[in-house]
Amino acid sequence: MLNFDYHNPTRIVFGQGRIADLATLVPANARVLILVGGASAEKTGTLGEVREALGTRQHSTFSGIEPNPSFETAMKAVQQVREGGFDFLLAVGGGSVIDATKFIAAAALFEGDPWTILTSWGSKVTQALPFGTVLTLPATGSEMNEGAVITRRDIGAKRPFRSPKVFPLFSVLDPTKTYTLPPAQIANGVVDAFVHTIEQYLTYPVNAAVQDRFAEGLLQTLIEIGPRLLNAPSPVYDDRANLMWTATLALNGLIGAGVPQDWATHMIGHELTALHNIDHARTLAIVLPALLEERRTQKHAKLLQYSERVWGITTGSDEERISAAIAKTRAFFEAMGIPTRLKDYGLGAEVIDIVIRQLEAHGMTQLSEHRDLSLDISRRILTAAL
Ligand code: NZQ
Ligand code: ZN
Repeated sequence: MLNFDYHNPTRIVFGQGRIADLATLVPANARVLILVGGASAEKTGTLGEVREALGTRQHSTFSGIEPNPSFETAMKAVQQVREGGFDFLLAVGGGSVIDATKFIAAAALFEGDPWTILTSWGSKVTQALPFGTVLTLPATGSEMNEGAVITRRDIGAKRPFRSPKVFPLFSVLDPTKTYTLPPAQIANGVVDAFVHTIEQYLTYPVNAAVQDRFAEGLLQTLIEIGPRLLNAPSPVYDDRANLMWTATLALNGLIGAGVPQDWATHMIGHELTALHNIDHARTLAIVLPALLEERRTQKHAKLLQYSERVWGITTGSDEERISAAIAKTRAFFEAMGIPTRLKDYGLGAEVIDIVIRQLEAHGMTQLSEHRDLSLDISRRILTAAL
């Protein structure tokens, strides 16, 4: 096992009716800016519940954070924070609202050009406003981690940053708040959580026994509940609860402690979203099967373990079992209603050069757990994903 530090300070407040706990979770004298996306939080009644729980605390709402949140919109919120003297932020939404809130919390106290937060990968962040979250879409794990991804529309750049200063103070996870999600967003959540787990598990063995078993448990849970979530005539509480907690655990640092991590699928996927506005999870479903094919040698031992322990494949040669596991992965995404080929999104070979140029511009020239996934290999992966 590799050396690691593990510290996760986010309090999780889980279960039906827990939004009422904001009454005690948010400091009594806080001046609160609530941050939301489009219309969903208002329409579903979640925003109303949040306001009620805040009681007499001074609060306002900033709305309009878009999916794949933009630097431009976040900077408008920063202005509102500064002008209104807000000292506590409350994100109500999915990964986009939470990621934007992390950036806003850091940018509000940042000296200099806030875009530096992204270009420094977060290393320049020395302080941030405190904030909590109310999660309405289980997918990204942003509710319990220190990462965020922000897009600058003018230059078509989608950039991640990390800082221990942007762990949420608390996150309220009420599975009933997912009942209003359209099936496509449920599918996105399942696939995003699946690929987060894969990025930290499907690398090379380091004898991290419990991290492996834990990751395999998350993958098997998603395989089991994914199709059921899509096909249920009405929402089933326990399935929603299991999805919510699985998605959180997939990216709260626990399964990634002490193991090598890949993240190439995410880095290539981010460029596809920035250029073609494809939902985050869908870009992962395009890239991952092609990447696994390309990286059969580097990931050989873990692909065999994945094949046997996650998919129960025990017969055939090594290469046959690996092929079967990759095929099952692709079929799982497709069964969730998520196409896995660039052509399914109306994209052809003409997009590849541009994606490669963007990867180069963003310093993504040595990806993967081995830092050897060059631009040429990214090109082969994208070609295989056509
Ligand atoms: O904007 P509103 O009206 O709220 O609608 C949203 C949005 O259109 C809707 N929605 C959310 N909760 C709902 C709901 N609709 C009905 N009922 C509800 N309860 O869903 C749509 C998508 O929301 P979004 O927040 O964009 O989705 P998601 O949670 O998948 O977040 C995606 C973003 O997170 C980033 C992605 O890159 C992308 O920008 N990621 C963040 C990570 C992190 N911080 O660790 C890791 C991930 O890999 C990912 O990169
Ligand atoms: Zn993701």
